[in-house]
Amino acid sequence: MSALLSEMRRNGFVAGIALLAALGGFLFGYDTGVISGAAPYLTKALHIGSFGESWVVGSLLLGAAVGAVCSAWLADAISRKWTKFVGGCVYAAAAIGSAFATSVVFLCTARFVLGLAVGTASFVAPMYISEHSPRRVRGAMTTFNQFMITLGILVAYIGDFALKGFAHNWRWMLAFGAVPGIALAISMALVPHSPRWLMEQDRRDEASQVLGHSRSDDEIDDELDDIQEVVEAQEATGWSEILSSKVRPLLLIGVVLAVAQQLIGINTVIYYGATILHYMGYPTGASVGRAVYLGIINWAAAGVALLLLDFVGRRVLLLIGTAGSTLSLVAIGFYFHEGSAFQHANTGLAGLAPVMAYLFFFEIGLGPIFWLMISEMFPLRIKSKAMATATVFNWVFNFLISYFFLRMTKGIGRDGVFWMYAGFGALALTFFFLKVPETKGKSLEQLEREVGAGSGERQQRRHGGPELGTT
Ligand code: BGC
Repeated sequence: MSALLSEMRRNGFVAGIALLAALGGFLFGYDTGVISGAAPYLTKALHIGSFGESWVVGSLLLGAAVGAVCSAWLADAISRKWTKFVGGCVYAAAAIGSAFATSVVFLCTARFVLGLAVGTASFVAPMYISEHSPRRVRGAMTTFNQFMITLGILVAYIGDFALKGFAHNWRWMLAFGAVPGIALAISMALVPHSPRWLMEQDRRDEASQVLGHSRSDDEIDDELDDIQEVVEAQEATGWSEILSSKVRPLLLIGVVLAVAQQLIGINTVIYYGATILHYMGYPTGASVGRAVYLGIINWAAAGVALLLLDFVGRRVLLLIGTAGSTLSLVAIGFYFHEGSAFQHANTGLAGLAPVMAYLFFFEIGLGPIFWLMISEMFPLRIKSKAMATATVFNWVFNFLISYFFLRMTKGIGRDGVFWMYAGFGALALTFFFLKVPETKGKSLEQLEREVGAGSGERQQRRHGGPELGTT
């Protein structure tokens, strides 16, 4: 811990950059959280039925999937920094637009545009941060983004709770999103380019200046030579390269991490947290208040991950986190299975505990580690396309699970849905155990060389899991 704090002091410049870039995470989280509190009011004000409501939630998620694809191209063409700047501006404009909505079509259109910006922020933020970070602290720095996602969710929950009784409250809830959007755009205009993007543009002097803020002179030259080697070896690539024999195994890991995040039901708990607590027997008012507790544990656990990832490593935390989330899902399933008499007798901590445990384990494992690993394991030449592909899977499955959750509870019961999520958790855990490598402490270029060399024999390191590219 003290080692991390002294690293943080040494890396104040990168930490500052990470904090500003992670505003992208904040707006991602704010929008994820705000809609659950705003939906009951806006559906009433705009006379929207349950079908329309699913689309109010879903339009943003579809927009995010499209935004991720567009920004794969933008992040290479106009840079990570300016892509995030554009994302911040679009977000601010669409947040204000959505607050003035007068019909469901208007609202869904504004939320689709908002989604374009959220999809952009969701992967360009971790990509930009990891490209700036020294390897020793890359886990913590990149996880700032997840920390800000969870902070955005918490702020949204608190806002929803605080504005409960106000007229036009949903318009204010949506409009507030413009604040982090503007803050992100201003911040991105001020921060430097990613050194790796600069090297791709053959701008070594500028890359050297950027690294000079956080590396010693020797480290700068070594790191730039390393990047140069990787850049020179790269050939012009198209989308088909992500399916090449070297990248395919990594893409599979990225996609499974992306899909697993959603199939274990994280956004069921985030979007329908208050509803789930209500199902558990809490009265409506109390469940909205209790949802704030869920937001707090979610945020605090992301902070724990930030402190641990560079010490304990990604792989161990991923395995512990996924196992813990899976067991918590089994417990939530039993809670529902026992029936309402049991639930009403246990609306205190006993009811909240498995949901809180679930969030805790998600946030020390799969939550941050998906975004972290996709930002570090792909070769530079293909990075934006591969990251965008994994991100699209994440948003599409987010959409599917959110869209079908309420319907599924009617089909297989509430216990059945949570046990189904637990089943996906068990499958994901097995895959992670067999396939996910450790990336802690390695430079991005070292990881890239491993991919190049990795199609041969399998060099299993002690506790290190499989080598990159050997799956
Ligand atoms: C996921 C989001 C989720 C959030 C919850 C992120 O890692 O990608 O879908 O809403 O974590 O904290």
